[in-house]
Amino acid sequence: MEFVDLRAQYRHIGARVDARIRRVMEHQRFILGPEVGELEEQLAARVGARHCVSCASGTDALLLAFLALGVGAGEDAGPDEVITTPFTFFATGEMITLAGARPVFVDIEPVGYNLDPEKIEAAITPRTKAILPVSLYGQPSEMDAINAIADRHGLAVIEDAAQSFGAVYRGRHSGNLSTIGCTSFFPSKPLGCYGDGGACFMNDDALAGTMRELRNHGQSGRYRHTRIGINGRLDTLQAAVLLAKLEFFDEELTARAEIADRYTALLKDAVRTPRLLPERTSAWAQYTIEVEDREAVEAAMKDAGIPTAVHYPVPLHLQPVYSELAREMGWRRGSFPVAERAAERVLSLPMHPYLRPEEIERVAAAVTHSVQRSAFSVQKSG
Ligand SMILES: Cc1ncc(COP(=O)(O)O)c(C=O)c1O
Repeated sequence: MEFVDLRAQYRHIGARVDARIRRVMEHQRFILGPEVGELEEQLAARVGARHCVSCASGTDALLLAFLALGVGAGEDAGPDEVITTPFTFFATGEMITLAGARPVFVDIEPVGYNLDPEKIEAAITPRTKAILPVSLYGQPSEMDAINAIADRHGLAVIEDAAQSFGAVYRGRHSGNLSTIGCTSFFPSKPLGCYGDGGACFMNDDALAGTMRELRNHGQSGRYRHTRIGINGRLDTLQAAVLLAKLEFFDEELTARAEIADRYTALLKDAVRTPRLLPERTSAWAQYTIEVEDREAVEAAMKDAGIPTAVHYPVPLHLQPVYSELAREMGWRRGSFPVAERAAERVLSLPMHPYLRPEEIERVAAAVTHSVQRSAFSVQKSG
């Protein structure tokens, strides 16, 4: 069994992907070829944004957002600050730091694992420039509350929608819930390409123009460089793959939701299963349970031949690279207890749209069995 079975997907959609790739091989316009524009139009229409600027990865999407908004090293007063969650993939914090700004961590909500809006305002300082909620595992954060706080303080909101493309929050699409939405097309993401890829969404025309220049060496015209940018373009071949995959995406999202429901029905009495907050859907990038004795459960799952993953074992404020920042900010173990508890307990199970019913049942049975076994051994040793 695979954690994400891209071969099974390819068996289903391969003919469309091959046809799209062949077209690129015929025209040979590998950099910003026609598929890139076509994809951007389709993606923008899908999320209802005025603009989609595709780029080379979800990581670049975040960096481009900071560059375009001018969030960085700041002036004499010190670096700009970006409020974000410590319970995320490293790129979220990494790009804040790479842009020259400072990540300021705020704890998460226990349901949904996203930035807790109740705790944001206390972290705002005169240097705060943006709030960066992450729609973890595919579920959007409490975006209306976060946008309201940002409006009150004149801040931008950047949604890290790397895991949530396809999710809906109060009738609006993830990626188009804030000033800028950033997503990833990493192969294992709900909408993934066959390499690296990403995109930003926004409704402001000037911001979109700036981002288009930034992702292509700050060029406003050929060899006319008006900004310091990056080589952050999405390959034409990856755009072609995504155009083919988009044809199946709604079907796949439905399958993911059905698989999540089935897992929950089978597991809810054995472990803490994921919950959705009201008025939203998840893209189910991950199906993540919580268990007491994770190491034992992981080992038992491995013995049963079922892959699992931990997203993510170490919250950002406890990462070695942030030790100096943590000292400066007074962060230590215990500073963000909800994130830290989640990091110790979460375990993601195989999740992709082509999981078969018997596979789901096998995974659920193995989880139930291993949880019971680890509880038994705890009882015995206690
Ligand atoms: C929350 C989050 N942010 C950012 C990224 C970075 O995306 P990419 O791998 O496309 O650079 C990822 C994906 O890996 C992610 O999960």
